[in-house]
Amino acid sequence: MPLHIVRNDITQMKVDAIVNAANETLLGGGGVDGAIHRAAGPQLLAECRTLDGCRTGEAKITGAYRLPCKYVIHTVGPVWRGGLFGERQKLISCYRTSLSLAEAHQCETVAFPLISSGVYGYPKDKALHIAVDTISDFLTDHEMTVYLVIFDKSAFQIGERLFHSIASYIDDNYAAAHSDGPEEQSSRLLPGRMSRRVQEPHTLYDASPGQDGRPFAASGVSRAFPKKKAAADRPASPLPDALSGPANGFPGAKSASVPPAQSLRDALRQIDESFSEMLLRKIDERGITDVQCYKKANIDRKLFSKIRSDRLYRPSKPTVLAFAIALELPLEETKDMLMKAGFALSHSSRFDIIVEYFISRGNYNIFEINEALFAFDQHLLGA
Ligand code: APR
Repeated sequence: MPLHIVRNDITQMKVDAIVNAANETLLGGGGVDGAIHRAAGPQLLAECRTLDGCRTGEAKITGAYRLPCKYVIHTVGPVWRGGLFGERQKLISCYRTSLSLAEAHQCETVAFPLISSGVYGYPKDKALHIAVDTISDFLTDHEMTVYLVIFDKSAFQIGERLFHSIASYIDDNYAAAHSDGPEEQSSRLLPGRMSRRVQEPHTLYDASPGQDGRPFAASGVSRAFPKKKAAADRPASPLPDALSGPANGFPGAKSASVPPAQSLRDALRQIDESFSEMLLRKIDERGITDVQCYKKANIDRKLFSKIRSDRLYRPSKPTVLAFAIALELPLEETKDMLMKAGFALSHSSRFDIIVEYFISRGNYNIFEINEALFAFDQHLLGA
């Protein structure tokens, strides 16, 4: 997963570089700046003294000393003064210059705090949005794993309106479907009751590729699967209801959720295609590249290569949903893709209901969806 949102203390992160929300003197302070200096030890300050400060929106890099990482990237966020003094651009610049420095130092993993959202008073939901947007933009054409580290509950706020809207959507669907006892069903999701699972230090929520699937089936990455038997060679089998009717050009079909097939041969092929085959077909149908797809899905390249090279790959549910979002599939096609992998959407799962909320509103921004999933203490989409 190229972009994680995790709850942790940034000084505990075992990554190549952590980013410090510093001030222009670079001589330490409170908040995350103070925590990083305390954990790194006095040598960090000694090195910072040689840097001659740093301007707002810029970044400078030092060693990490006693911290469990290689580098500390010090950046200076803007002080919030109402939003009319270029604060947004300066904050975007903090993330961009820090990521460029990390790339220049061959960092593969980087952890950010929510810059300016503490002492500098940047509204937390705006600060979060800028962080997620800027980092995800960078990740569309860079290979890196970035962690957005949230230290305390109050530091993480999605928009109030969005939170309420999702909370009532969950209530409408979850309570009705959830099989728990009455006390569980009466527990409405109220604002502020965002319980957070504290990430054990060092154990980030990490859908590492191994978690999903089987060992890599083949070396290298080729698009073609072993030649399948042509449909005509296949023993005739009765068409399932969904395929025998007008919806797919056959008399009497139910209003099938299977997208209309061009022909009987296509229909038969779609019935027994694997998840991987369906995924590759839909990427082609949408006219996007593989890279565009897995980047939009917040899936890392290595995992996508495994899926592309193993026609029987068994993905996790968050991975399937991440691709459905990247392909901007409507709900019914999302359900078909889930079914291919042996899953179904369930109203007994807050995770599923939140994803359904965004799909039903045509919002396919996976990073916005992940902000909401994090706010409701759910796993994130991607892998
Ligand atoms: N790990 C991760 N995040 C943390 C930690 C930590 N150990 N401690 C604080 N944070 C979070 C805060 O909750 C906030 O969301 O970091 C975010 C940034 O808050 P600040 O540290 O106050 O930084 P900022 O708002 O950018 O203000 C910078 O504060 O500490 C001084 O010297 C610093 O003058 C500078 C100013």
